[in-house]
Amino acid sequence: MLRTEEKVIDEARQGEALEGRKVSNSNGRKVFIESYGCQMNFSDSEIVASILEKDGYETTKLLHEADIVFVNTCSIREKAEQTVRKRLTVYNKHKRKNPQMIIGVLGCMAERLKSKFLEEEKIVDLVVGPDAYRDLPNLVGEVDGGRKAVNVILSKEETYGDIAPVRLGGNGVTAFVSITRGCDNMCTFCVVPFTRGRERSRDPESIIQEVRELSLAGYREVTLLGQNVDSYLWYGGGLKKEFANLSDEEKEKSTNFAQLMDRVAQVDRKIRIRFSTSHPKDMTDDVLHVMARHDNICDYIHLPFQSGNSRILEMMNRGYTREWYMNRIDAIRRILPTCSISADIISGFCSETEEEHQDTLSLMEYVKYHFSYMFKYSERPNTMAQRKYPDDIPEETKQRRLAEIIELQQKHSHEQLKKDLGKTYEVLVEGVSKKSDHELYGRNTHNSVIVFPRENYKVGDYVMVKVETCTSATLKGKAVK
Ligand code: SAH
Ligand code: SF4
Ligand code: F3S
Repeated sequence: MLRTEEKVIDEARQGEALEGRKVSNSNGRKVFIESYGCQMNFSDSEIVASILEKDGYETTKLLHEADIVFVNTCSIREKAEQTVRKRLTVYNKHKRKNPQMIIGVLGCMAERLKSKFLEEEKIVDLVVGPDAYRDLPNLVGEVDGGRKAVNVILSKEETYGDIAPVRLGGNGVTAFVSITRGCDNMCTFCVVPFTRGRERSRDPESIIQEVRELSLAGYREVTLLGQNVDSYLWYGGGLKKEFANLSDEEKEKSTNFAQLMDRVAQVDRKIRIRFSTSHPKDMTDDVLHVMARHDNICDYIHLPFQSGNSRILEMMNRGYTREWYMNRIDAIRRILPTCSISADIISGFCSETEEEHQDTLSLMEYVKYHFSYMFKYSERPNTMAQRKYPDDIPEETKQRRLAEIIELQQKHSHEQLKKDLGKTYEVLVEGVSKKSDHELYGRNTHNSVIVFPRENYKVGDYVMVKVETCTSATLKGKAVK
């Protein structure tokens, strides 16, 4: 994996526990919540904390003082699951010292592993899927009564739209706001449709309200989250529908992603807007035009392509070809000429030939991404790919192809960042650099990390920074008045 500064920051968030917080209605019990996986999981953990706080639970960052330990899990690749298993062993060591401690698995591993965790391994008291968090206080009650508790029912309506997440995980400057839950795309390699269920869009009024509250609380950046933000469509509630299938009345009151962003951008001009993830099959020119119209929508798009070869894309059920993807890139270049682009890429998907792998490299050459998240294909139980296609690319080949992808990406990242030398960018300060107390870091509109001397600036400031040097991953500069 490319170790950009961005990536290092992302990785640092893996396995991060929510901050501790006291509540006035305390019931005397403390919950430790640790999250793995994507931003959606980190965002959900804040919803979980909010639900529990209402019932008088406090949060703690210290495992040893916790009465309840929750791990919000990820299933996306095998390695993610292994990490969680290791953590469960650690929690169980603590439980030996404190037998009253309750251990619960939340999130994407819940559905698949419910019976295994509860019955065979006996190391977990509670298993709760991503749509059942409102039930947590009851389920904890069940465990208090001496029973194991499970709720992994996936919902067709739940969006937690009315729950204001307690912002305990972040820096007080950047926040994530979920706009859809679940996914209907059924990419053949992916577990998400199984772990998170059907796609639902959240009421735009509750989204706008949340962004308003973030603005009042001093937040400076909001990232709208969904597995495929471009398919956001509010028509009054419930499961995802295509616009063409809406009744006239539903069409009348509907809001699509372009319209939603247009509204969100107007809440507070001083708040930056980002969004993730865009899907090449659904990203419209309308979205790009809305981005062009609003200065506070960042000039950056994460547009995963997975493979540069149309046969593999078809096998992945991604819903687009290489040519379609290139057409979307051309549209970005036309409407947003300075926009930076990043991607997700998978090496060694079932039956991928050497020529098809070359197509991935040549698509990278065509786009020259600012950065990418790059993965070896990892077969996931019960997915379409697992049922239909043999996982037939040898490990060494997957690894070698991944290494080639990473090498090319590093070259492109460096080339892209070199173009920024001498330019001045507005940087939103997110924190103190891990390497030196005398330096701050933040990101520019293109999502590039910029490090610069601290002087008297602080987290949350917008600072104009002139770029002086760069590595393959980070820009360095100085504040200019
Ligand atoms: N909804 C997003 C992706 C969410 S998962 C989208 O469609 O773009 C994040 C990334 O993990 C995916 O883009 C893909 O590159 C990678 N991924 C998902 N399943 C995988 C698997 N089985 N093996 C390897 N990588 C996988
Ligand atoms: Fe998975 Fe595809 Fe949905 Fe992304 S769009 S979450 S890769 S099924
Ligand atoms: Fe992982 Fe679930 Fe996100 S599988 S990547 S935590 S949606």
